[in-house]
Parts: sequence; structure tokens; C-alpha cells
Amino acid sequence: MPDPGPIVLNRRTFLALAGVGGVALAACGTGTGTAPPANPRGLPSVPRAAETGRVREYLLDAAPMDLRLGSRTVSTWGYNGQVPGPEIRAEAGDTLRVRVRNNLPEDTTVHWHGVPLANAMDGVPGVTQPPVRPGEEFTYEYVVPIDGTFWYHSHVGLQLDRGLYAPLIVDSPGEGPAHDREYTLLLDDWLDGVDGLTPRDDVQFPLFLLNGRPPEDPPSLIARRGERILLRLVNAGSRAVFRVAVSGHRMQVVRSDSEPVQPVTVDALRISMGERYDVLVQADNPGVHQVAAIVDGLGQDGLARAVLRYEEAGESSAPPADAVPVEAERRLLTLADLQAAEELGTFPADGVPDRTYDLVLDSEGEGADRLWTINRQAYPDADPLPVAAGEWIRVRMTRRRGTHPMHLHGHIFQVRNATGRGPFKDTVLLDGAQEELEFDFVADNPGEWLFHCHQLYHMEHGMSRLVSYTGS
Ligand code: C2O
Ligand code: CU
Repeated sequence: MPDPGPIVLNRRTFLALAGVGGVALAACGTGTGTAPPANPRGLPSVPRAAETGRVREYLLDAAPMDLRLGSRTVSTWGYNGQVPGPEIRAEAGDTLRVRVRNNLPEDTTVHWHGVPLANAMDGVPGVTQPPVRPGEEFTYEYVVPIDGTFWYHSHVGLQLDRGLYAPLIVDSPGEGPAHDREYTLLLDDWLDGVDGLTPRDDVQFPLFLLNGRPPEDPPSLIARRGERILLRLVNAGSRAVFRVAVSGHRMQVVRSDSEPVQPVTVDALRISMGERYDVLVQADNPGVHQVAAIVDGLGQDGLARAVLRYEEAGESSAPPADAVPVEAERRLLTLADLQAAEELGTFPADGVPDRTYDLVLDSEGEGADRLWTINRQAYPDADPLPVAAGEWIRVRMTRRRGTHPMHLHGHIFQVRNATGRGPFKDTVLLDGAQEELEFDFVADNPGEWLFHCHQLYHMEHGMSRLVSYTGS
């Protein structure tokens, strides 16, 4: 087998090579356990970059901290004394080595949301590793096989509903949409430390944050007329779906989660917990504009925001904190609009998956005893979903009640929609607007992987399953 050398395979290069041994190339990344098994039928699965041999090292200190939120200061838990935690950045094919020190009063782990990495580094306590005890440390080391917008967060209990989350951005030279500037925007519903609150269900959120800032103290996104601005949107909240709109501008959606889509231009989009969207904004309307993330379907009002500030606008004042752009009520992105970028391919419309799982998302009981169930089972008292390496798996979900952003660890699936080439994603929302949904994936990453609702309180009350490779 020829040594591919220290080049980063981008998606286009991969395609060019795919006809002359792409499968063999995909199996080249030995040594770190990230190489997917051969996929002999040529089913679509996101190509992995070749290893660059470069190692990027980071240190994360998970600890209690004080966070300034506008006029108040709250006590919370975060990474390296900041919320969101520090951005981790790499190129596809690089090795990330992240040393995590646990200075919290309880166990913790770190999960690398959306990254199809080696199972042992996935950060699920009791499944892929023992939890990291207070005062101890653990080093995560893995190859980041694909580029895109990801995030990392604690995967223990309700810790994500504090400040233990941060962006993970993976570049691929020459890939991705051309742009002049970029900003990563993490949205969050916040309660920790406000009036003595600690993470729990059934409360109203007193605040919504964008990059750890309340609406009274918004971050500024600087732009100059004529520029193309890339916004990487991440919903790091525990319960809130947000509707995002930029006043005076439209958004061109170019990626769903980490994966490219056929560009589609909209005025607003909904983003559920765990999802990411990369959007381009053409800066052609100098001024100071509201970038709003409006709470959607939570049963309470609220908004997080940034301001898009043109250099040409000088010191002009920001819009009112609660201003809702008219764009929020205009053309809204739907799942039916999204079509995977052509090079990602599609599962054959007339093919038959090797296994299909029919899953009903429901709940039983009321109040504090309520369980959120998949086929009437509440994790951990729930059967695993077996798969075998190389299989084509279809998952069909039906929602009975609740808002459920369903997230699969370790894999990227293709949502089936009427375009015939639905978007590739790792998190997808079922709610009143989307009662049923199907996705396909190739079982190309052996291990034990969590599949769960990213509404943190649903996850903690049963809405999880293990996707479990037989013979692994
Ligand atoms: Cu954001 Cu189980 O993950
Ligand atoms: Cu849910």
C-alpha cells in the first residue's frame, strides 16, 4: 500500500483518489485506532483526513470559578476560569492531546461532540472510560479525522448546565467556504448561580448567553462593508432551542453540524441543543445590527445576542437588548431545505439497509418521577442497539411528546429527506414541527457509542441508548 505521506486529504482530493483505491486509503491511518473498517459497498461515509503527524497540546483545568454576567457575578464551574472554555483548534488529521485536570468537587469527563474519534477517547463515564476523580487528571489523545465546527463539554450529570463547554474548531486548508472573518457563537440557557439556582429541571431560565455574555453586555462582531463573515453557531444550552436571525442581513447556510450542504439562503434558522450551523453573512448594510438568538418553544421568553458592528458605523449605539429582528419571522430554514454537498454522496434510494431500528420517543410518569423513554425503556435499564462493523444502519424515529435533539456519538448520519440527498449531521431535532425522521449511517467506527437526547434533563432521565458493535 503506498504511503500517502503527510498530506491532509480534503474532501475533493479524497474524491479524486476514491476511484483509484479510496477504500485502501481510508484504512491507512494505523496506530491510533481511528481508521474505519473498509466500506466495500461504497456507501457514503465522511472521509477521514490522513494523519499529519502534528500534535497539538492543550491543558484544561475544570474548576469552580466566578463569572461576571453584566451587572452580577455568579459562582459556577468552568474550564480555565472562563465561560465558554478556551477554543481548541486543529487541522484535520492532527493529533489533539488535551490534559484535563479535575479540580471540581465531583467526577468529570470531557466529550468531543461530533468528532468521530477513537471510542476510548469519547468521554462517556462508565462506558468509554472511568470518570476522572476530583484531584486527578486524564489525557485525551486522538486524531481529529474531519474538519468543521465542533464543541466539547462535560458528560457527567448536569455539569453541562454549568459553564463546562467550549468550541472545538477543525480546519482543513483549502476547504470550507471562503470568508474574510469568522466568529464562533455559543448559545446557552443559563441559571447556575443566579439567585442561588443550581442546575435542575422545571425552572425558568433567568438568562440566555452568547459567548458567556448576557444581552446587557453583548459581544461585538466587527465587520467592514464588502466582507463575507462566517458565523459558526453552536447551541450549548441544556433545554433551549434558539431561532437565530441577523437584522438587515440574510444568512447563507453552508454547513449543518460539521458537514457541507448545498448553500441555502434564509432569514432565520432554528438550532437545537448540540447542533451547529455554519452560515455566511454578506456585510453589505453598514450600521450596528442585532444578532439575535431568540428562545423558541421553551414556554418562556428570552433572547441572547451579539451585535454586528461595521467599522464604518463608528461609535453608533447598539440596538436595544431585547430587539427582535424582523428577519426572525421571515424565511426560516427547514430540514427539507438541506441537501448534502454533492461530493458526500447518498445512500442508494432503492437499497436495503442491513438493519433498521424503529424508535419511539416518549415519556411516562409525571413531575419529578417522569422518565423519558425510547421504546418504553429508560436508560440505563435499556437494551443496547447492536450493529456490526461495515453495516448500513437505518434509524427511524417517531416522537410522541417532547422536544428531542437526538445525538449519535462517533458517527455522522445522513438524514433522509425529499431532496434525495439529505444533510449529514450528528444531531437532529424532533419536535412538533418534525414528528418523524429517518437517518442512515455506516457502522464504521467500532466501540460502544451513546445515542441520546441532548436535552440534558431528558438524557439524565432515561432518553439514551448504547449503539454497541457486536464483537468489539
Ligand atoms: Cu454533546 Cu453525548 O453529547
Ligand atoms: Cu429529549
